[in-house]
Amino acid sequence: MSRDGEQVIFIVENDKMHFRNRKLLQTLTVAVLLAYTILLVYQSFSTGVISHENIELHPNDEKIKSFRQRLQRHLSRDQLGDSDHLQNLENPATISPNLSPGEVTQVTMRPFTTSLNDLFISVKTTKHFHKERLPIILKTWFQLAKDVTWFFTDTNDEEFHKMTNGHMINTNCSSSHSRKALCCKMSVEFDTFIETDKKWFCHFDDDNYVNIPRLVDFLSDYNPREDWYLGKPSIQAPLEIINKDKSSQKVKFWFATGGAGFCLSKALALKMMPVASGGKFISTGEKIRLPDDVTMGYIIEHLLKKPLTVVDQFHSHLEPMKFIRRDMLKDQISFSYSKNKEEWNVVKIEGFDAKYDTNRFLSLHCFLFPETRFCPR
Ligand SMILES: *[C@@H]1O[C@H](CO)[C@@H](O)[C@H](O)[C@H]1NC(C)=O
Repeated sequence: MSRDGEQVIFIVENDKMHFRNRKLLQTLTVAVLLAYTILLVYQSFSTGVISHENIELHPNDEKIKSFRQRLQRHLSRDQLGDSDHLQNLENPATISPNLSPGEVTQVTMRPFTTSLNDLFISVKTTKHFHKERLPIILKTWFQLAKDVTWFFTDTNDEEFHKMTNGHMINTNCSSSHSRKALCCKMSVEFDTFIETDKKWFCHFDDDNYVNIPRLVDFLSDYNPREDWYLGKPSIQAPLEIINKDKSSQKVKFWFATGGAGFCLSKALALKMMPVASGGKFISTGEKIRLPDDVTMGYIIEHLLKKPLTVVDQFHSHLEPMKFIRRDMLKDQISFSYSKNKEEWNVVKIEGFDAKYDTNRFLSLHCFLFPETRFCPR
């Protein structure tokens, strides 16, 4: 049937309707329309409120994502401590004031975090090297880790005691370079660490430059509640010694070179206590008749059966420093130097004249931290 036909039928039926019925139908229609309009208005208003809340609170929102990323960066940069060079960080509170405290807690709830204050840094030195080696350390990297760095020596030195704010420890060990004297110092370093509540023990020598922010950043990838022996060997194969106690049995183990620096987690250090604490490090060293760093490897790798994790960013003077590429310097944890028959093995870096900066530590420091006061602008 055609549309015209429909209309015809409708008009015919309409005509048949009573006048009062038509009036009622009109009123009903108006009422239904009105109700529908009210419903529409209410609905659009309420969805408006919901989507507004979405912007503020939905965790996947872009704004919060970017805030989280910025906060993460802030937290990791904060690990550097309050050094002069590492300022100008945004205040996270100003980034998104609408963020509820719950959101912030979620970001910081990582299984563990590492900051400079979690470290115990020991530097082994001797009275003969105070004047020659300590001033450059005190002028450079020590400034970034004053509160957590301790010097282990063999004399009372009032001058350096003051300069380090009392961070010189007289081990009362011999000042000779003998095996026993070296193990004696390591023993005191270890015992001193055990008495602290620090999470990491990092040992260095007085001819090391330590890239503090890099060290902290590096350690934050490891859990101090797990057993970690982090360092770098200086030999190509594990050391092989003969254990005279056990019918000349061969013993093989790796050890981290002390001259490059190494770190031990608190968990591992606690497990070492029966053979290393309270002076037992010395008797263990005497037993195998090997230096301090080798004794460390023997205790950890052989006695405790915990493997050394090789970290290439530690560098001792046994390596040629000039091969560390300039664009890789900032990623390295430690550097060293040595002099062999008038030939200096030093980091290759521009900066101060070699006359004033023979071991290149001043220049290296200015390269890594150009904002330092004594660095040229
Ligand atoms: C070294 O000897 C002095 C004097 O006897 C003592 O006070 C100090 O505690 C000793 N140091 C260590 C690390 O044992």
